[in-house]
Amino acid sequence: MSDAPRLVTCGLPYTNGSCHLGHLRTYVPADMYVRYRRHRGEEITFVCGSDNHGTPIVVSAEAEGVSPAELSRRYHEHFDRTFRRMNVAFDHFGMTDGETNHRRTRAIVERLQENGHVYAERIEQSYCPSCRRFLPDRYVKGLCPHCGAEARGDECDQGCGKHLEPGEIRKPVCTVCDTPAELREQEHFFFRLSTFGPFLLEHLKHLRGTANARNYALGWVRDGLRDWCITRTLEWGVRYPGRDDLVVYVWVDAPIGYIAFTEEWAAAHGKDWRQYWCGGGEITHFIGGDITYHHCIFWPALLKGAGYGLPSAVVASGMLKVDDHKFSKSRGYVVWTNEDYLDLGLPADCLRYYLVASTSHTRELNFSWQAFADRVNNELVNTFGNFVHRTLHFAHTQFGGIPAVAASAPVSAVIEETLAAVDEAMIEYEFKNAVDAVMALAAHGNNLIQANAPWKLVKTDPAAAAQVIADALQLVKALSLLIDPVMPDAAQRIWCMLGQPGEVAGHRLDECTTPLAAAPLALPTPLFARLEEKRVTELEALLAARVAEAERRAACEAALPDAPLTIEEFGRMELVVGRVLQAEPIKKSKKLLRLMVDIGSEKRQIVSGIAGFYAPEELVGRDVVVIANLAPAVLFGVESRGMILAAGEEASLLVPLRPVEPGTRIR
Ligand code: 2FM
Ligand code: ZN
Repeated sequence: MSDAPRLVTCGLPYTNGSCHLGHLRTYVPADMYVRYRRHRGEEITFVCGSDNHGTPIVVSAEAEGVSPAELSRRYHEHFDRTFRRMNVAFDHFGMTDGETNHRRTRAIVERLQENGHVYAERIEQSYCPSCRRFLPDRYVKGLCPHCGAEARGDECDQGCGKHLEPGEIRKPVCTVCDTPAELREQEHFFFRLSTFGPFLLEHLKHLRGTANARNYALGWVRDGLRDWCITRTLEWGVRYPGRDDLVVYVWVDAPIGYIAFTEEWAAAHGKDWRQYWCGGGEITHFIGGDITYHHCIFWPALLKGAGYGLPSAVVASGMLKVDDHKFSKSRGYVVWTNEDYLDLGLPADCLRYYLVASTSHTRELNFSWQAFADRVNNELVNTFGNFVHRTLHFAHTQFGGIPAVAASAPVSAVIEETLAAVDEAMIEYEFKNAVDAVMALAAHGNNLIQANAPWKLVKTDPAAAAQVIADALQLVKALSLLIDPVMPDAAQRIWCMLGQPGEVAGHRLDECTTPLAAAPLALPTPLFARLEEKRVTELEALLAARVAEAERRAACEAALPDAPLTIEEFGRMELVVGRVLQAEPIKKSKKLLRLMVDIGSEKRQIVSGIAGFYAPEELVGRDVVVIANLAPAVLFGVESRGMILAAGEEASLLVPLRPVEPGTRIR
């Protein structure tokens, strides 16, 4: 173990959307890794923060009609709170818009300039003649010059994944007003990334972490590197030194946030951030695999160019699928951490376990509620929870607590083997293998109890039964320490039920085999609750409703071609007046109401997302406008055959001005 000060960071979430499972796929293993190494007695600082700059934030803020600062503050607090709820425990969670990061970013850019790594050049970039402004990054969409896929300004996110430089996108169109963009000249600043090839080849040779990160990066260097434009024409961001009209590109100040957050943490704890960042530190970055280029190419080159120390390891997680579909917020294939999980009373521990145990860290993880339930029920309830519970229960009822018997040598040996297997897995960033080894230890405990049947043995040979239970209790202690990095709440509960003092997190893994002192034990409570089939069906329905709603929205958008609507097209839409006969809430949904509507020819069941704006009784007897020939959809298990028209954010219902009969056609 080296004495270098150790720092672990996680990729910074943008402050323009809520936390979802895709985020957690990186944060949970990072948190597990930090907790594990602390259990081995290492000191580690774990920092992260929110990514506040760049066009993702500005575009979202404009759409919401708030300032980027306000949006950032709101989502910053959201992420901070959500990570705490998930037990992802950063030592510091900063903001890239904070004063420290502004200062550090300007200092680094100035240093890059002094060191000759930056030059100015006039370039052509997209300009919207209608909005009368330049179109940085997400303000422009078009076609990828490399693969032809639809792409946004700085990244081909639907196609080849390549980073795009300003002005490179083909057939550029303004994302705000859909006007084809023009190309206009403007002076920008470039980082000489192309000169860092030999340095990066050497750096990547020694870079630890997952092989996917290293191998992709080596391939990119061998393919040749291009200089990076590091300025943008934007109001929001870190001002480029000496220029009032430019800010630095978000991918410059975002990773510099790692340094700034270390500085903020160090200042609050009487430490020196330079020990981490000016050479000699051990820096491990946990990131999503999609931002490997930024962390393995751009970032080390930037650090090198400015004279800072380099990352020691980059650990890149695989992508997330939901129900076998590519994760997509717009298509509804998303699971929100709060709304879909924690707020429903589901435990952080189970999701943490699932995310780590499902597959290797670098592989794609295909989430489904059924797979989640299977793991919870089979592994956490039947294997792990069952072993801990039956052991503590038997010790309590038959011996009043921990018997005064030391664990046997074979049990200590099995624990030692598990410790070695877990350590090997953690060194290789194979987190799944680590939890599998812990689960195998719990299964071993179950076998021990099953094979020795202490409930029989206690009648014929109480000393032998005491030995079995002493062995099982030692395994329970080891399981508490070993599972703490993954499921800290469950681990602490076991620790307390075992009568151990303080926090399990403060104890080292060496203690797995230290004998338990004889002590009384209280009656244990179960560790995990089974996820019943009915609950799984409800969770699946929630996801299905979101996908259905996204499909309906997409169908509406697709049905709106650019050409003007013909009277025939309008005529195809069956718009009629309907009278609401009944209205009632839909169980477990805050947004939906089930309506029965008289549309003249028949009574229709329609599900409408207006529960937040109307009490059911206000609607009964009202005449509304219905699209009667919309394709049916099932929302929260309720079939909807039609749609009620409403306007604006507050869903103001469209109603006829003068009385008309239900079923009257709108023309
Ligand atoms: O891709 C993203 O979500 C970025 N916000 C990650 C930034 S990580 C770091 F470099 F700051
Ligand atoms: Zn492409």
